Amino acid sequence: MAGYVVVGTQWGDEGKGKIVDVLGSKVDYVVRFQGGNNAGHTVIVEGKKHILHLLPSGVLHTQSKCIIGPGVVVDPFVFLEEIALIESGGITTDHVYISDRAHLIMPYHVALDAYQEEMKGDKKVGTTKRGIGPCYADKYQRIGLRMSDLEDIDSFKEKLAFTLKIKNDEIVKLYEGEAFDYDDLLTKFIELRDKLLPRMIDSVAEIDQALTNNKFVLFEGAQAAMLDINYGTYPYVTSSSPTSAGVCAGVGVSPKKLDTIVGVVKAYSTRVGEGPFVTELNDDKGEFLREKGFEFGATTGRPRRCGWLDLLVVKHATLINGLTDLVVTKVDVLSGLKEINICMGYEIDGVRFDYLPASVEKVVRAKPIYDVMEGWDEDITGIREFDLLPENCKKYLRKIEEVSKTRISMVSVGPEREHNIYLHDIITK
Ligand code: GDP
Ligand code: IMO
Ligand code: MG
Repeated sequence: MAGYVVVGTQWGDEGKGKIVDVLGSKVDYVVRFQGGNNAGHTVIVEGKKHILHLLPSGVLHTQSKCIIGPGVVVDPFVFLEEIALIESGGITTDHVYISDRAHLIMPYHVALDAYQEEMKGDKKVGTTKRGIGPCYADKYQRIGLRMSDLEDIDSFKEKLAFTLKIKNDEIVKLYEGEAFDYDDLLTKFIELRDKLLPRMIDSVAEIDQALTNNKFVLFEGAQAAMLDINYGTYPYVTSSSPTSAGVCAGVGVSPKKLDTIVGVVKAYSTRVGEGPFVTELNDDKGEFLREKGFEFGATTGRPRRCGWLDLLVVKHATLINGLTDLVVTKVDVLSGLKEINICMGYEIDGVRFDYLPASVEKVVRAKPIYDVMEGWDEDITGIREFDLLPENCKKYLRKIEEVSKTRISMVSVGPEREHNIYLHDIITK
């Protein structure tokens, strides 16, 4: 069995895309299991930047089959734009498929995302406004449209008419917005069908069979543990489960078939959107991290909030995912800092917490308890062996291992494919 999972351990943007691309050269399948085009995964190859929102980050390796799995929400317009963009760069996309069970993000979901955020005012989540939450809400309300509905156009028409009435009621009566026209929507989706249907597959049996036959299947997470609908800083979260459990639910795979679960840890913290961020730096150090790490959203372009590494968060991610390996990214960004803080726990109302409380109000009141570590000056982007890293950098990495009780298998020291230090093989092929 060779089921590999790559997930984010913080608030997203840890560099998952780069890591999936690096590991992607060795696998037979790369499968997205949750989220949608709220993701922005950057892959840089020979200086050329690709930002993937919906397509799996293995797409540049055309030998692997890339599947957008059942648990993903698919905006078909974005999907086709992304396919066109990749093909315009001379890369074929015949290896990209979408599950027939995946739900469709409809134009009214995108509109509702914006209306709902506006209605929330200063309580807004700060979503990517891609329609993710409204689409998952319809899925769970059992009024969503799925890829498979496109096959039988009569049933598609019926379902669209039913759901659109409910959605238009909400848009017009609650938000005083403009109703969506049924005929217009239908025409657009009929036009899309010919391009989408050839890529539609039933992935459940195929992936199970692949794993049974010892094929290498890499499950690519979007977002991260702290944005998880159950275990993140609710309600400042996304609407899916970006954890290893999300793979089982989102692809239809048994947990027994996932043997390697890799958590990507950025060497410091960032967050896009609203919600508590205990180690946030609103000073020149935060600005240093944003500038040097180029911390601007890959999807929305928003400046990312920056702060010190929070090991309570990494421990939380280790626990809820059952991580077997860590990949620490962007360690090069820390070069040049005299001292580096690392958060070991929270103090809330005079009490020490070593785990993440459920109450977002408590997390807002939390004060970080830091260990202060000495920094290093050297540019480490060119280093390829752990032993050659500056001593203080090694101490920093060892601290992450010690607290999370999980081995670091790879250290990323730059954005390109080859900017890595390998400590343990993740994919043993
Ligand atoms: P993802 O959403 O987890 O895939 O991460 P993003 O692509 O949104 O953000 C990560 C950013 O950091 C991208 O611009 C990457 O090119 C860049 N990056 C990834 N790893 C490294 C690294 O080790 N060092 C530096 N300097 N940049 C990195
Ligand atoms: P990747 O895969 C960082 C954040 C949004 C917002 C919250 C809910 O690139 O790591 P949503 O649109 O999902 O309803 O927004 O989640 N968010 C992300 N932040 N990286 C992402 O993806 C994110 N996807 C969603 O900013 O706070
Ligand atoms: Mg991202």
